[in-house]
Amino acid sequence: MGEFPISWVRDNFPALNVGDEFVFFDNGGGAQIPHAALDAVQQHLILCNVQRGGKYRQSVQVDAAIQRARESVAIFLNASSPDEVAFGMNATSFIRIVSQGIAEILGNRPEIVVTDIDHEANIATWLVLEKHGAQIRWWKVREDGSLHTDDLAPLLSSRTRLVACALASNALGSIIDVKEVCRLAHSAGAEVFVDAVHYAPHAPLDVQELDCDYLVCSGYKIFAPHMGFLWGKAAALDALPTFREDFIPDRAPLKIEVGTFVYENVAGMNAALGYLEDLGRRTSANGHQKSRRDLMLQAMNAIRSYELGLSAHILTSLQRLPGVTIYGISDPEKVSGRVPTVSFNVKDLPAPNLAQAMADRSIAVRSGNMYSPRLLKRLGVSTEDGLVRASLVHYNTADEIGRFIEVLARITGN
Ligand SMILES: Cc1ncc(COP(=O)(O)O)c(C=O)c1O
Repeated sequence: MGEFPISWVRDNFPALNVGDEFVFFDNGGGAQIPHAALDAVQQHLILCNVQRGGKYRQSVQVDAAIQRARESVAIFLNASSPDEVAFGMNATSFIRIVSQGIAEILGNRPEIVVTDIDHEANIATWLVLEKHGAQIRWWKVREDGSLHTDDLAPLLSSRTRLVACALASNALGSIIDVKEVCRLAHSAGAEVFVDAVHYAPHAPLDVQELDCDYLVCSGYKIFAPHMGFLWGKAAALDALPTFREDFIPDRAPLKIEVGTFVYENVAGMNAALGYLEDLGRRTSANGHQKSRRDLMLQAMNAIRSYELGLSAHILTSLQRLPGVTIYGISDPEKVSGRVPTVSFNVKDLPAPNLAQAMADRSIAVRSGNMYSPRLLKRLGVSTEDGLVRASLVHYNTADEIGRFIEVLARITGN
């Protein structure tokens, strides 16, 4: 594989080329979209902005666009069938739908394991099940800010219904060994619900290899417009009680999809995955001979190795600044345990003030609790001010890290 084609990548994202010298390091909140996705949204709105399920041409085109997107997402995830993929508004609403179904079939397995590293969407939603008799077991991060699978094993038993956990922390960027989580949970007869929202833009996903039962993503973090999708093993989805109208078949994916979703954004999701295939073609010698899955894998592997460099670079540079505390994995030698999402604080400078000062200088970072206040408490960080998060993706560059560090040094008087 040659050099990562960063100029080609950046040329693909119109928002990065409006000439305003803006450094966008808030990708954890949602990424920019490539022109192919923009075009797909526009074409959908021009050519078939109608309800699905009709007999006329434009409506048939909507059904076809949704089906194409299901097939593309299934390839992206290595799902066994496109019918295992459901579309909707966002990740949180899918976690709600699945958790409400599970609430009704807890049976003699009332225990749900949640973590204190997750986004609150994958915690609070499960806590609601206490009203239905669920008992919550907490898998907690250690002092080092990481979840250890050794600590999960003792929480599992024949009473465990499900383990809910993220593949990567949106607050710290650390990666969780979900394959091992699935192995442990399944040997206790429990299911695993994976929140892949923060991980998905950074590395290849393979639901069959992970062997999880449900997995959720926000499309708008994977270079698509605002939308979300859920994947579930066909048998798990089919067994789930849901709330659809009597005349809707009680089968995935329709049973999990709530009314009308934003079809043009689903078309945009399909095109965003097409962009990844193009990137796969660009980064491989014999791209034209590869399958769609291999192209997406190639792209995600190229992204992963490029981003390892970004992680090491930003960590090394941040560590040189006096008064900076980095949370999570801070050793540049250990970047394989994380994605390029780096959270930190600067001594005597509240996170919101620092984020504002950076915004005033055209650098977009996020401050606050990152929807992970339990984790912040565990790390001894004020949940009011929180921390500052710089979350990078594959269109960010070493030059941008340089500008970010320069501005940070100026603000902090270094
Ligand atoms: C790890 C993680 N899980 C869940 C969510 C919630 O996603 P959504 O807004 O699509 O519901 C987010 C949003 O930032 C996230 O980072």
